Amino acid sequence: MKKYKILLAVSLVAIGLMTALVASINEKKDEQEKLNQVPKVDRWETKNEEFRKHYPRQFDSWKETKKSDEIHDMLKEYPELVVLWAGYGFAKDYNAPRGHFYAVEDNRNTLRTGGPVDEKTGPMPTACWTCKSPDVPRIMAEDGDMEYYTGKWSKYGSDIINPIGCVDCHNPETMELQVNRKYLDEGLKAAGEKTLAEATQQDMRSMVCAQCHVEYYFAKTPLADGKSAAVVTLPWAEGTLVEDMEKYYDNMEFKDWTHKVSKTPMLKAQHPGWEMWKTGAHGKNNVSCADCHMPYVQEGGIKYTDHNIGNPLENMDKSCMNCHRVSEKSLLANINEKRERKNELHKKAMKALAAAHLEAGKAWEVGATEEEMAPILKDIRHAQWRWDYAVASHPSFFHAPEETLRILGTALGKAGDARIKLAKVLAKHGAGDYKAPEIKDKKQAQEIIGLPFEKLIEEKMKFRNGLMQEWKKEAEKKGVYNPKSTEGVEDKTSYN
Ligand code: HEC
Ligand code: HEC
Ligand code: HEC
Ligand code: HEC
Repeated sequence: MKKYKILLAVSLVAIGLMTALVASINEKKDEQEKLNQVPKVDRWETKNEEFRKHYPRQFDSWKETKKSDEIHDMLKEYPELVVLWAGYGFAKDYNAPRGHFYAVEDNRNTLRTGGPVDEKTGPMPTACWTCKSPDVPRIMAEDGDMEYYTGKWSKYGSDIINPIGCVDCHNPETMELQVNRKYLDEGLKAAGEKTLAEATQQDMRSMVCAQCHVEYYFAKTPLADGKSAAVVTLPWAEGTLVEDMEKYYDNMEFKDWTHKVSKTPMLKAQHPGWEMWKTGAHGKNNVSCADCHMPYVQEGGIKYTDHNIGNPLENMDKSCMNCHRVSEKSLLANINEKRERKNELHKKAMKALAAAHLEAGKAWEVGATEEEMAPILKDIRHAQWRWDYAVASHPSFFHAPEETLRILGTALGKAGDARIKLAKVLAKHGAGDYKAPEIKDKKQAQEIIGLPFEKLIEEKMKFRNGLMQEWKKEAEKKGVYNPKSTEGVEDKTSYN
């Protein structure tokens, strides 16, 4: 009798468990089906929170990018950069990238965007917002591209307010991947690459990133009303290698700025991440940005895309080990070796360039002629462009290790050429014993180039406590901003 009772009890428990399991499977199935249906979200809904009710997993993982919140002051780590960028915004403030969640905040807080007092002041054009927010394609659609590209950065302070989010990569009506910034397709066409219309789903998994992680410049474009627009343009018409873009810029005699010390017409590389990726082992095999940065996650019966875009080395089991059979440890060791190889050449090139700028400054001071300096400035321009290209396309040492070392090698070569020529010019003008000072820290570097750091901070703080707060209130009134979305977020910067 006892035996039967036990058997009955066991069976009942088993049936109970089975029923629960079936119910759970059905529930998951329902949920998956619900997920597969596309709920109606407004075409230009840029408040990311509005997507949470429909796509909780994607939203919650997207919001995890908030955890990557460290400010890493690159000018403090490499004070030579202050000299390399003398006369240009980057000498004022430059941090390593952090989570997408901070894109708008960091853009407003950087000393590079200055301290505007109204919609017509400040050092930067509207184009500076372009890869920070889904409000950008919204404004482009509402105002037209040319209106968007006209005027000062401060013109859109109360419109461009939500950080990189759903509408940057998706059409919310279908949730398909979509690129809403026209310059990418124009760039692809100019380069003779596959256009967006020809892109496969796998291509799109990189293209959504390429709308921002690419090299670009602001092309000055005259408008009918006599005004001029600063239009984001990808310099790809000669191709997408570092030499191709150098040629493109040289042909049009383009410069981002004139170096304050050496008087070189300079180029600033932005972040040619997609172009570099293309030349590496993964790019050549079309392993997409999303394959590593947005791996699939299995949660119960549900499979979804991890939207916490960050460092794939933090979850190698999902981001690498589906494809690689060696151990995580040996892959990591391999990567660190690549990083060190890059750093060795990177630092050498950076120090050589800082010295070249200061030596050129001295040469002007002791009476060098334009004619003597022209070939030297050309070497400096090309050397720094190449060094910057290899370093700013973070982290190209991993995405494209050989190409990174090749480019740094040519940068070092050209910086060396400049300095040999400079030694001759300095000797000719009686300054053969000049030795450029060694750059020791950020403060000393700022003094060398005469940067009014304290004044910049003062202007910025006035802006942050004043106009910037007005922008947030206005944005809320316009219905494009939910202050809850940034509640409790600490406003971090490198300078206060
Ligand atoms: C930087 C680009 C990017 C952003 C920002 C982004 N997504 Fe995605 N999303 C992707 C990619 C890539 C995929 C994978 C698409 C594929 O290969 O089918 C994806 C897939 C999805 C899917 C399909 C189901 C799945 O998980 O694969 C949904 C739903 C989705 N995203 C919702 C969102 C929501 C909601 C937001 C905003 C909180 C968002 N996405 C922000 C790039 C992005
Ligand atoms: C709308 C423009 C835009 C799009 C689209 C975009 N990014 Fe970014 N990304 C940025 C900006 C801007 C930052 C720097 C944010 C900051 O520091 O405040 C950044 C930062 C990053 C970082 C550094 C994150 C960290 O925590 O350090 C990674 C990794 C990254 N992006 C990868 C990607 C990948 C992969 C895609 C495509 C799936 C993508 N991004 C799409 C603009 C974009
Ligand atoms: C094969 C995997 C893989 C692919 C494909 C890949 N990445 Fe990465 N990415 C990584 C790894 C690993 C790192 C971190 C390396 C490190 O330790 O610095 C990284 C770092 C980054 C960072 C720098 C973050 C920082 O804080 O400096 C950005 C930005 C980025 N990737 C963008 C992209 C874009 C855009 C693409 C596609 C064009 C792409 N990645 C393709 C693996 C990949
Ligand atoms: C979708 C598949 C896929 C994923 C995901 C992937 N890889 Fe790879 N990986 C490849 C392929 C394919 C190659 C090229 C192999 C060849 O050429 O024989 C490669 C090559 C490499 C190489 C050698 C080439 C080089 O650049 O030195 C390293 C190192 C590497 N992968 C590391 C990683 C790491 C780390 C991750 C995760 C962040 C990762 N891979 C994610 C497919 C992948």
